[in-house]
Amino acid sequence: EKLPVTVYANQQEGSLAVAQRIAGLIKDKTAKGEHTVLGLATGVTPIQVYAELVRQHREEGLSFKNVITFNLDEYYPMQPDAAQSYVTFMNENLFAHVDIDPANVHIPDGTLDQEAVAAFCLAYEKKITELGGLDLQILGIGRTGHIGFNEPGSAPNSGTRLVTLDDLTRNDASRDFGGKQNVPTKAITMGIGTIFKAREIILMAWSQKKASIIKKAVEGEMSGDVPATYLQLSDNVEFVLDAPAASSL
Ligand code: GLP
Repeated sequence: EKLPVTVYANQQEGSLAVAQRIAGLIKDKTAKGEHTVLGLATGVTPIQVYAELVRQHREEGLSFKNVITFNLDEYYPMQPDAAQSYVTFMNENLFAHVDIDPANVHIPDGTLDQEAVAAFCLAYEKKITELGGLDLQILGIGRTGHIGFNEPGSAPNSGTRLVTLDDLTRNDASRDFGGKQNVPTKAITMGIGTIFKAREIILMAWSQKKASIIKKAVEGEMSGDVPATYLQLSDNVEFVLDAPAASSL
């Protein structure tokens, strides 16, 4: 059985379509007097989605007042005000430009002592559940096949936890950090099980660089070696790709 895949000509078109889905969800739920719980991702992949949401906020009055967000992951250790933190990324690309209540923003805390992390992770899971669960989780994919920072070896039922980053992931991050030696060796990430509980999951990938991992994720045998293959178990997932990322399918 194949996963649903939608292919757009380019990143711009794919990003607009995903932004439209998110905006539509927010408007529908707001009209019903409900809040929207979004699971958000970092990296290059969702940048144009966030840019379009910011545009709709500015030009079309899309409001984030009823939106609650949970980010997938954060490096560990990481200070929120560091240039490479996912807190900085989210502020620069979305939160600082829309009317979201800062109290509704959740990003794993990279500043905790190692002993405090496990309790934090449990509380993160609990908070998502108490707020009614994630309405929509958006994902990118790393070249190891990771989603969030669920690296090869992650269990399909894993929860939010501290993980060790794969060597390839640290290589890919080295430019942001001015050298691999500066890339943290760990991260806090939602688990595959956490992601799975979302009512809808959209995985985006753009460019030829992602073509081979997309082929493995969509068509490959399900295996912990490529964590994204576990998405094959979900009925609520859709892959949104540009033509180059889909070129090996
Ligand atoms: C990082 C993030 C992932 C992201 C992946 C791909 O490791 N933790 O959530 O999906 O990289 O990044 P990019 O979108 O920049 O290709």
